[in-house]
Amino acid sequence: MIKYLDLKAINDMHDAELRAAVNRVMDSGWYLKGEATRLFESHYAEYIGTKYCIGCANGLDALTLIFRAYIQLGVMQKGDEVIVPANTYIASILAITECGLTPVLVEPSLDTLQIDDALIEAAITPRTRAIMIVHLYGRCAYTDRIGDICRRHGMKLIEDNAQAHGCKKTGSLGHAAGHSFYPGKNLGALGDAGAVTTDDDVLAEVIRSMGNYGSSKKYVFDYLGRNSRIDEIQAAMLDVKLKYLDAENQRRKDIAALYISKVTNPLIRIPNCSDRDCVWHIFPVFCRHRDRLQQYLQDNGVETQIHYPIPPHKQRCYSSWNKLSLPITEQIHKEELSLPCNQALTDEQVNTIIDLLNNYK
Ligand SMILES: Cc1ncc(COP(=O)(O)O)c(C=O)c1O
Repeated sequence: MIKYLDLKAINDMHDAELRAAVNRVMDSGWYLKGEATRLFESHYAEYIGTKYCIGCANGLDALTLIFRAYIQLGVMQKGDEVIVPANTYIASILAITECGLTPVLVEPSLDTLQIDDALIEAAITPRTRAIMIVHLYGRCAYTDRIGDICRRHGMKLIEDNAQAHGCKKTGSLGHAAGHSFYPGKNLGALGDAGAVTTDDDVLAEVIRSMGNYGSSKKYVFDYLGRNSRIDEIQAAMLDVKLKYLDAENQRRKDIAALYISKVTNPLIRIPNCSDRDCVWHIFPVFCRHRDRLQQYLQDNGVETQIHYPIPPHKQRCYSSWNKLSLPITEQIHKEELSLPCNQALTDEQVNTIIDLLNNYK
């Protein structure tokens, strides 16, 4: 069986270094807000190209903390609107609603699979305060047009960079970005972890404090905070894995290039994307009979996944949206199938998958 994502194999590649990192933390006797966190935050900020990186508990918290801090600073108020792609993972939208803000769902383009920048202006109202772009599948969603719209309307540009660590300048393109280090991400922890990156001094200070109960000085509380910190063990392991991220992303790009050049079956649509624009967190293909294709690959020893089977507006938790018609989003969710694409795969395995795809009828 070719696994969709063999996390053990991926982390085994750095086994000795990861174990040494865990041992260093254990030997230090310091488990939160220590040297390992400080080092990882400074290395990741440098890698992303921002002044600040603030570690937190997970990617959803990273996004939520950005909105909570903007509300705390009076930049946004409950009930304000945030434009977000309709075809994102639910966490992008949960971060908005959790803060009492209103998500405005905008359709993606079928070509880029990212928010359609031609549809954004029509979605702006006097209450719109931000656009959240999501670099879905590891592909950069930023366009000059989006940057220009944010500047003209005085809106914040927030990036959901959960899926695109190391892609061009993602994470440094807007006012603030949320990152997830969920184990399956391109830069994955061995548990939950996340971070915010930003160049904004005030925002960084408020977010750091809000993730620590709203406190920047022990037992003094300035904001209504929460507990959302990265722990030392995850920070130490992420610091090890960060050194290999570019090489591992390159392996993903090489595999994607093989799929793009060699899959020629007209029943299967391959994404249209240049090497520069994508780190292929997910390699999506599209097929009208997606479930049948998935079963065929499964029967022939290839595990795949679907990202994602049900779009956010059709979920029970957002029942007031269930009758919305978002045909492009719905088509993507109906036809998408994710192929294995990661550094644990051999060329032989990739070629097996390509042959199977080309023989699919
Ligand atoms: C696009 C996107 N946003 C946000 C998240 C949330 O990250 P986490 O799982 O670390 O909370 C994820 C991943 O799970 C994601 O894929």
